[in-house]
Amino acid sequence: MAGVTTVRGGGQPQGARVPLIAGNWKMNLDHLQSIAFVQKLAWSLKDARHDFGAVEVAVFPPFTDLRSVQTLVSADKLPIVYGAQDVSRHAPGAFTGEIAAEFLAKLDCTYVVIGHSERRTLHGETDEVVAAKTTAALGAGLIPLICVGETAEDLETHGASAVPVAQLNAVLESLPKGTDFVVAYEPVWAIGSGQAATPEQAQQVASALRAAISERLGEETAKATRILYGGSVKADNIAGFMRQPDVDGALVGGASLDVEGFSAIVRYQKHVGV
Ligand code: PGA
Repeated sequence: MAGVTTVRGGGQPQGARVPLIAGNWKMNLDHLQSIAFVQKLAWSLKDARHDFGAVEVAVFPPFTDLRSVQTLVSADKLPIVYGAQDVSRHAPGAFTGEIAAEFLAKLDCTYVVIGHSERRTLHGETDEVVAAKTTAALGAGLIPLICVGETAEDLETHGASAVPVAQLNAVLESLPKGTDFVVAYEPVWAIGSGQAATPEQAQQVASALRAAISERLGEETAKATRILYGGSVKADNIAGFMRQPDVDGALVGGASLDVEGFSAIVRYQKHVGV
């Protein structure tokens, strides 16, 4: 992949937001499978002459795969970035089973997903925990990818943006202006259901989230922050989301486990406008 520069998130030229397509593998693919997958993904995108500077590509494998992915990406100089799906809010110490942000930084992780709805619902993560994990990630030099989203019940009771905005505000309180972070709006009812939000719904909430960032951290930070949509994103619906002015990418679960499908999502520009 000579001539392709590795994208490390953040540094967008002229204030433009570089779209990010991120694959959340959840608890899928062991470390051997992760090597084969990342290799195939890189080949597929290279074959398609994907411009990694125009659309950044990230994968989020399980913790036990990260060392293998690091070794592959660094040995073959692949222009794919990666991160973990969770992180401890604590500094290294007596926390059995936890993984410190420093350890992820040592593995050259660029990002870390924080507050995914599965963590919030299955592991009782509160807004306070999400905020503390975000602080820990930033302290280690990682870019937090903060997930927010409403349940079907929230949607009915409070409308679409109230809960995601409140979840984001709980984190924004502790962030300084200029912080490099990514937000993923993932309606809980759309995750793994095959029933994605409409592009207009995603835009409406993304715009409310950007307004919340602007209010707390200023317009410049709001303009520079990427807001992704997640929830049943596939190759055949990505283009509609990417046409929205406040949607800067996607967090893809199920469809990120198929090399060709994920590669087609990354190359959405080929099917935008058709
Ligand atoms: P899905 O998951 O694409 O399978 O709906 C999205 C996510 O949970 O990040």
